[in-house]
Amino acid sequence: MDNLKEIPTQQQLNGYQHFTIAVIPGDGIGPEVTQQAVNVLDAIAQKFGHHFNYNYCLMGADAIDKTGTPLPNETVSICSKSDAILFGAIGHPKYDNDPSAKVRPEQGLLQLRKRLQLFANIRPVATYTSLHHLSPLKAKKLVDVDFIIYRELTGGIYFGEKKTDAAQTWASDECIYTKDEVERIAHLAFKAAQKRRKKLTLVDKANVLETSRLWRKVVKDMASQYPDVELNFLYVDNAVMQIILNPKQFDIILAENLFGDMISDVASIISGSLGLLPSASIGESNALFEPIHGSFPAAAGKDIANPLGSILSVAMMLEHLKLFKEAKLVRDAVDWTIQNLFVTKDIDPVNFYFTSTVGELITEYIHGRVTGVFNQENVELRKSTII
Ligand code: IPM
Ligand code: MN
Repeated sequence: MDNLKEIPTQQQLNGYQHFTIAVIPGDGIGPEVTQQAVNVLDAIAQKFGHHFNYNYCLMGADAIDKTGTPLPNETVSICSKSDAILFGAIGHPKYDNDPSAKVRPEQGLLQLRKRLQLFANIRPVATYTSLHHLSPLKAKKLVDVDFIIYRELTGGIYFGEKKTDAAQTWASDECIYTKDEVERIAHLAFKAAQKRRKKLTLVDKANVLETSRLWRKVVKDMASQYPDVELNFLYVDNAVMQIILNPKQFDIILAENLFGDMISDVASIISGSLGLLPSASIGESNALFEPIHGSFPAAAGKDIANPLGSILSVAMMLEHLKLFKEAKLVRDAVDWTIQNLFVTKDIDPVNFYFTSTVGELITEYIHGRVTGVFNQENVELRKSTII
């Protein structure tokens, strides 16, 4: 019977493929940006003859409201069986203002990362010439900025033992890393550097922390396996400064969990809007794709959030599924909207388009229905039917 699996189906012979995608819309603006990302996947499916089967599931504040827990078992089971997971955003103000809340939306995401062992979080940072004016950095510093942060995602202080006494007069968070945990992500980072400009920077605090000294030793010992990659080290306090002062010096940045979290937010400032940045979280058997922005509760339901972080996460998903032509078309479509300033309010507060309009323009581009001649009247009205 096992042999049957090896016989390609007619669909595979045609190059058409079938994928199961777990979709977690989550909280705040999560559902509306995810909807646009799903529309983009649908457009890709139609254009290339693939089939994406979506399994929707709950996580975060949405899941707490509906089930009492931020990560229902059903979500873990659906996600673990999927070819890829598309996730929106997590977090709700009612928990942010209550630090003592025992059940918190973020626990859902942290537990999912841990249970599926999504140990490598990959966050590319790029800039767009037409958006240089949005960056707080001078335009000349933005030219040729193109780096990727590899953040360890399932270890360190995030997951160490947490303690406090009953009277809350002290608290502690343990930070532990094993050699294996460092090696598995460092291999991915070295390999990524080999395919790019061959430069790897480890960000740590090895002048103070034992865990950072372990990271340095392990990564240094691995360097001989990647002789073509130039390896260097930066203390995290210096790294955040360098990312702002001279971002083009970086190619691949490797960091442990907490430092990676912080430097990726700093790095997002460079591109001009947090809403533009995608990410992938990869493990041995599963992979999750999400924009790096949060749930932006103030914008929820208003159709004003930027869907590009989520749509570019779809491009990363397609690359992960080895659908490279398809991913390239999504990226071209996104570039086209940015170049023509068909952008949301975070990018152009005056002449902005709605979340759904930007999504629709991208799907139209994918279908090849964009002619380059726009109906100026509709453009002025910010209508989706501008083409
Ligand atoms: C991120 C987020 C999460 C993190 C939060 C929501 C737990 O900030 O994905 O960067 O700290 O990892
Ligand atoms: Mn973060």
